[in-house]
Order: sequence, then C-alpha cells, then structure tokens
Amino acid sequence: MARGLERRFAIDGKVAAVTGAGAGIGRAVSLCLAEAGAAVAVQDLDEKKAAAVAAEIRDAGGSAISIGGDASQSSAIEAAYERAERELGGLDITVNNAGIYPFTGFLEITEKLLDKVLDLNLRGSFLATQIAGRIMSRRGRGGRIVNIASVQGLRPTAPGVTHYNVTKAGVMMLTKSAALELAPAGIAVNAVAPGVIQTEGTQPLIDADALGDPSVMAPYGARWGRAEEVADTILFLVSPAASYITGETIIIDGGYLLR
Ligand SMILES: NC(=O)c1ccc[n+]([C@@H]2O[C@H](COP(=O)([O-])OP(=O)(O)OC[C@H]3O[C@@H](n4cnc5c(N)ncnc54)[C@H](O)[C@@H]3O)[C@@H](O)[C@H]2O)c1
Repeated sequence: MARGLERRFAIDGKVAAVTGAGAGIGRAVSLCLAEAGAAVAVQDLDEKKAAAVAAEIRDAGGSAISIGGDASQSSAIEAAYERAERELGGLDITVNNAGIYPFTGFLEITEKLLDKVLDLNLRGSFLATQIAGRIMSRRGRGGRIVNIASVQGLRPTAPGVTHYNVTKAGVMMLTKSAALELAPAGIAVNAVAPGVIQTEGTQPLIDADALGDPSVMAPYGARWGRAEEVADTILFLVSPAASYITGETIIIDGGYLLR
C-alpha cells in the first residue's frame, strides 16, 4: 500500500526559521524549505541580504519574512524566533546555521578571536537550540531543530581552524544532548556535517587553492559540494520521512573523511 511519496517529504503549512540565511548554505536551506511548502523566517546579521532572500522566496510564490540581528546574542535569536511564531503562525523547524570560520594559525588565535568564534558557532547554536526548544515545548506540537556541524568537528583536516573545529565538535554533542532532553516533547534535534561546500564564505579559500584539489579531497563527485546538497539533506531531516531520527549527525562530504 503506497504511503504517498510526496507527502513523506512535504512540509507545507510548517513554519521554519533559518539563521545566517542571507548567503551560502543558509540561503539554500531557506529556498529549499520554502519550495517544499514552509513559510520561512530568513535571519541574518546583514539585514539587506536576508531581505533579498525573503523577496526571492515571495517572488517564487512562497511566504517569507526577513529579520536582522547577531545570532550570537540570545536576545536577537529570541526576537527572530518569536517574530517567526507571531508573524508566520508558529515555529515547527529551526536551522541554526550562522557560523564563521576565520582561518588563523593556532598560535596566532587571540582571545578576542577565540571568543568571537565560540560565541557564534557554539554558544549561539546552544542558545538557538534552547530558545527553539522552549518555544516548541510551549506550543506542544513537537518540532525539528537542525544544527550545522562540520567534518572539521570530527577530524582536523586542515591547519588554521582549531577554534572552529572545537565549536563544531561541541555542536555535535549539543545536538545529541539536547535531543535526549527534548525527545519527550516530540522535538527532534539533528545536525549535518558538511565537507567543503562552495559558498560566498569558502570561495576566497577555494580561489586561493587553500583547500586542496577537490578531485583528490572529495573523491565521490571529484568536486566541492553545493549548498543545495546540504539543503536537500536538511529537508529530509525536517520532513515526515525522518520521523524516527534524532540526535544524529549526517556527513555530507563527497567522501572527504574516507581518505
Ligand atoms: N561552506 C562550507 O564549506 C562549510 C562546511 C561545513 C560547515 N559549514 C557551516 O555552515 C554554516 C554556513 O556556512 P557558509 O559557508 O554558508 O557561510 P557564508 O559565509 O557563505 O554565509 C554565512 C552567512 O551568515 C551570516 N552571518 C555571519 N555572522 C552572523 C551572525 N553573527 N549572526 C547572523 N548571521 C551571521 C553572514 O552575513 C552570511 O550571510 C556555518 O555554520 C559554517 O560553519 C560550512
């Protein structure tokens, strides 16, 4: 008996919020979730970029609002997720995506830079998961939370990102620990761990040949990943098809970690 393939991947009527969504992976996730039927709150530090993505969604017939703010601050995350709930009618999905990766040698990382990376990537993801969990628990309808880790949180594959790698390892443990506590409320918490994905953020590093040869580093596909490939995996994680998955981190790396 068919169970309706399309229905198993449909998220129409759901409300999603995505941080750091003005560019790169966050933008692709916002467009993908909107195409699958969700209303999307597009959050970014750069409000203009968030507004452009929200306009792109609306132009394609979808529903979206844009929100500015620094996703390392609990007040900004709270404001964004509460606005999503108020203006779009709920909060079913959050993708805590905002993150930075300023390449700096281990001995050159200053306390200030360390704090900046920890504040957004780890503390920000922690707070975003907690805030989403509180809103979803209060609503009593369950929910799906997705965090963005990295292959670098599993194995240091390049120098210059020790601060970053520590945050992404933390994001994976955050994902498992929060998943355990939020499960009774019907809230799933999962993560994705991308390899090198071609985005506005990584393009300068790719152009400078700082990440190696993709045909060697990413043998499955022999190219760097696309933001849409991360977005499609996240769509799976927030769809009915993933109804029994929580605390998991899915690696999307073209075989990068197999080497
Ligand atoms: N691109 C990759 O290869 C890759 C690999 C693994 C993990 N990731 C993770 O994916 C996420 C997105 O990466 P990307 O490559 O798409 O980045 P990107 O630099 O292309 O885009 C990031 C977006 O986040 C916004 N942003 C920056 N600081 C912010 C803040 N404090 N508050 C709100 N928004 C902020 C930026 O304005 C930008 O629009 C990050 O968490 C990153 O660590 C990326």
